Amino acid sequence: MIGIIGGTGIAGLLKNGEEKIVKNKYGEAKVLIDENNGVVLLSRHGLNHSTPPHKINYLANMYALKQLDVKRILSLNAVGSLKVEIEPSSFLVANDFIEFTKVRKSTFYEGEDGKVAHVNMLDPFCSDLRGILKGILDKRQYGYNEGTYVCTEGPRFETIAEINMYKHWGHVVGMTAYPEVSLAKELEMCYCSLCNISNYCSGIKDSDLTVDEVLDTVKSMEAKIVNVVDDFINY
Ligand code: HPA
Repeated sequence: MIGIIGGTGIAGLLKNGEEKIVKNKYGEAKVLIDENNGVVLLSRHGLNHSTPPHKINYLANMYALKQLDVKRILSLNAVGSLKVEIEPSSFLVANDFIEFTKVRKSTFYEGEDGKVAHVNMLDPFCSDLRGILKGILDKRQYGYNEGTYVCTEGPRFETIAEINMYKHWGHVVGMTAYPEVSLAKELEMCYCSLCNISNYCSGIKDSDLTVDEVLDTVKSMEAKIVNVVDDFINY
């Protein structure tokens, strides 16, 4: 099975399939399963975008994908750009991350049963899947960059001072790829992220940085995102 995790503004992706609630010891996840195409669709913010990034039950979501025998995950993440040359409406394939989250649970290994685990993060975003994603973007001639995803806790946007720091460390800022990326590793599922650049981060270049700006840009990219997802599923 292939897992597609839908993000901000693209809940519209999730139209085919049978709705199912998958329960596990971490909670429950609502998914749409398209058995014919071997695809599970999960909308991380809920279908009406009602769950903020710090309240998402990442453990329940990722465990549910594992329960459904998902091996490969394409995550869709709206992000802000930390670089003038990485323009809104383009894509970024994340190849590493730095995280500044605070309150979210981020591991399946809490030391119960005497089990301590430290998964390595040498290739957090699966290189095979990144290769497939880049091939699709090249073929479709959709502009993209590669780079480091900085994950913040949110739900507020960042200050100019924060962005002045992050811009030396990464290429884009978002609120959701972590801990999905490391939870996927813990569960031995391959995970990649297609970031859609919805705005410039605070102070990088002119931007109102409103939720409307983010949603409008994501909406304008929706057809392209759907094409990439289709190609990924049919690869
Ligand atoms: N910062 C954090 N998360 C985001 C942004 C941003 O500028 N845009 C979309 N998600």
